[in-house]
Amino acid sequence: MAEKLNILLVGSGGREHALAWKLRQSPRCATLYCAPGNAGIAQEAEIAALDADDHAAVIDFCREKEIGLVVIGPEAPLVAGLADDLAAAGFTAFGPSAAAAQLEGSKGFTKDLCAEFDIPTAAYQRFNNAPKAKRYVRETGAPIVIKADGLAAGKGVTVAESVEAACEAIDDCFEGAFGEAGAEVVVEECLVGEEASLFALCDGQTALLLGTAQDHKRVGEGDTGPNTGGMGAYSPAPILTQELIDEVMAEIIVPTLAGMHARGMPFRGILYAGLMLTETGPKLIEYNVRFGDPECQVLMPRLEADLVELMLAAATGSLLEVDEPQWREETALTVVMAAKGYPGSYEKGSVIGGIGKAEAGGALVFHAGTKAEGGSVVANGGRVLNVTALGANVTEAQAKAYAGIDAIHWPQGFCRRDIGWRAIAPENQRA
Ligand code: AMP
Ligand code: GLY
Repeated sequence: MAEKLNILLVGSGGREHALAWKLRQSPRCATLYCAPGNAGIAQEAEIAALDADDHAAVIDFCREKEIGLVVIGPEAPLVAGLADDLAAAGFTAFGPSAAAAQLEGSKGFTKDLCAEFDIPTAAYQRFNNAPKAKRYVRETGAPIVIKADGLAAGKGVTVAESVEAACEAIDDCFEGAFGEAGAEVVVEECLVGEEASLFALCDGQTALLLGTAQDHKRVGEGDTGPNTGGMGAYSPAPILTQELIDEVMAEIIVPTLAGMHARGMPFRGILYAGLMLTETGPKLIEYNVRFGDPECQVLMPRLEADLVELMLAAATGSLLEVDEPQWREETALTVVMAAKGYPGSYEKGSVIGGIGKAEAGGALVFHAGTKAEGGSVVANGGRVLNVTALGANVTEAQAKAYAGIDAIHWPQGFCRRDIGWRAIAPENQRA
């Protein structure tokens, strides 16, 4: 039996609750710590009062608690170099270096990598001033996509239906709507097709498929209204057939790993490819350098393999030695419950009831923005709960997830009632 180790998980979202839930099941896990965590994570892990921006404090904590693996959930600490500083101090961290995290941190960086290594993606140009960007937009015409180069919490992208809307988005970027992230702009061809995500576990040289998913980014039913961090997701993505998965691995993931290696910035961690399935084949929309949130909440319940073993192998460059991960046959679906007003302004502090009832009925309830207060769970963010269920197909997983939602009493919250709709219509046709 391999040695047990103490693990520190960094983050506080539904993604980290799902990771904590899965890490804790590993026979390799001794004590699991999480910083800063939330009310749900507190049931799986010891909460550490640590500020992830203070890398020296994180390193001191790792020394004191003899941490054998640090799992970094969100992109911000990765882009800020937490994995580099931990490695320099001799700790094993799961997640890419700051240099490799540019795949998410700079859209221009990723587009240039795609151009150099022939990775299929939308045609593009990079601009550092508004007049040139607008001239290009007028020449090219609409629809066209305008992106702030840097991290903008998922809000830096405008799919513009007209040249005027594109020019407005360009002005917003250069006038500082996204701060430093908008100092450079990428203008892209608008791709048409269905979107899906593919997750690959990478150790710098080798990539292992770690599941597929589809999410719902818009706040409103029928995928309408403003973009959010994600209102729900399901896995696997039925549209990604084995043939398409093989094509994405061979044409997109493998050349990306090779390109990053050639640039001296080997990618270790989770490479999350946002894909558009176009008439001419899958194209990369963007990379993220971490698990998706809420996609992680549907991947973890399906994963049978030991996550600690997989993460250690990725972090130490030995993925070739691990077996292909095993998965449950079922589909997982998660519905996000958010505070009314999200993704705009919302209130915190309302009491949430019925979580235990939802769990007793068979749902997995992953917490995002929650905190424990006087014996109750209260809302403490925009996206608050992820009510998750497994089923034989999307239709069945959806019914079980909404049964969980209906057990929860939270008048100040809301959710979409149609998560999974794109996959359900074809299932009904087959039935
Ligand atoms: P991103 O933040 O890059 O994932 O973009 C957010 C969303 O904008 C994506 O999920 C797509 O729906 C859309 N999008 C981004 N780039 C393109 C593109 N080139 N063509 C069409 N839609 C896009
Ligand atoms: N659900 C989208 C993301 O995690 O970026």
